[in-house]
Parts: sequence; structure tokens; C-alpha cells
Amino acid sequence: MAYKLLFVCLGNICRSPSAENIMNHLIQESGLTERIICDSAGTSSYHIGSPPDRRMSAAARQKLGFKLKGQARQFQSSDFQEFDLILAMDRENYQNILYLDPTGEYGQKVRIMCDFCCHYDLKEVPDPYYGGPEGFNQVIDLLMDACGGLLEHITNEGFD
Ligand code: 4NP
Repeated sequence: MAYKLLFVCLGNICRSPSAENIMNHLIQESGLTERIICDSAGTSSYHIGSPPDRRMSAAARQKLGFKLKGQARQFQSSDFQEFDLILAMDRENYQNILYLDPTGEYGQKVRIMCDFCCHYDLKEVPDPYYGGPEGFNQVIDLLMDACGGLLEHITNEGFD
């Protein structure tokens, strides 16, 4: 059985699809595609069915050389059982995920993405939606760092 990762932000059109696509890229490079599976979701219903934001996709294309794939969906309670690790992009996303688990049964599975950063000191992946292009570039840089740290963490822990 593959190890399953779920990346979560607010809209599922900027940060979490970027994290999913970047992580898939690193997984592919490491030859682990059969062993680690990624998905993403939003805590809100705002953009259900939408592809990744154009500005986010442009930043990914420019900085990473690939397009972002995906279609937004909303986080749902069944995701707690479905996934092994749930990565929240910021504190608000983290709280909103935990509200859906009132007994705290799945709390251990939920982590803050920036906890896996090795080079950047930020505690959250800032929401780029209402800002300029530099915000989208920063999301890519931060997520490259955090996804690298996350892959190392999973590999070190052993994931079967
Ligand atoms: P995301 O960015 O959570 O990284 O996908 C946002 C997308 C949409 C909105 C806010 C943040 N919005 O308010 O519609």
C-alpha cells in the first residue's frame, strides 16, 4: 500500500496544488511513484472544480519548468481516514482541519507544512491570492524547501 499525502490550503487553487505538483515532481525524481501518492484540497468550497490559479501556474512554469495540474475540491472528513499525513499550508487551515475532528482522533496526522522547511524560517506558506507576482514566487520557493524536507522525513521514518 502506498503512503498517502494530502496538502491543504483555503481555496485549493494556489498553495496546495503547487505543493502537490512539486511533491510529485520530487517523488518522480526519486523513483518513488509507486510508493507515495499525493492529493490536495481546500478548506473552503469557493473554487470547487477550478484548475490552479493562472498566476500560480505561471510562477510554477517560470521557476520550475512545469505546468500545475489539478481540479479544486473541498477537504472532507473521510480524508482523515484516507490519508496518512495531512499538510496544512497555514495556521488557519490547520485549525479548520482540526475543527472537523472534534474527538482529536486524527490530530497526529495533521501537520503544518513549514515544519518541514530546512532553509526558510517562515512558519506558514503566505496566502498569495490578493498580492502581486512576488507572492507566488515565494510560494514556489518555500514549497520546494518544505517538500524536500518532507520527502526526507518520510523516507527516514520508513513508510510501509
Ligand atoms: P489558496 O489561495 O488557499 O492558496 O488556494 C486562495 C485562493 C482563493 C482565495 C483565497 C486564497 N479566495 O479568497 O477566493
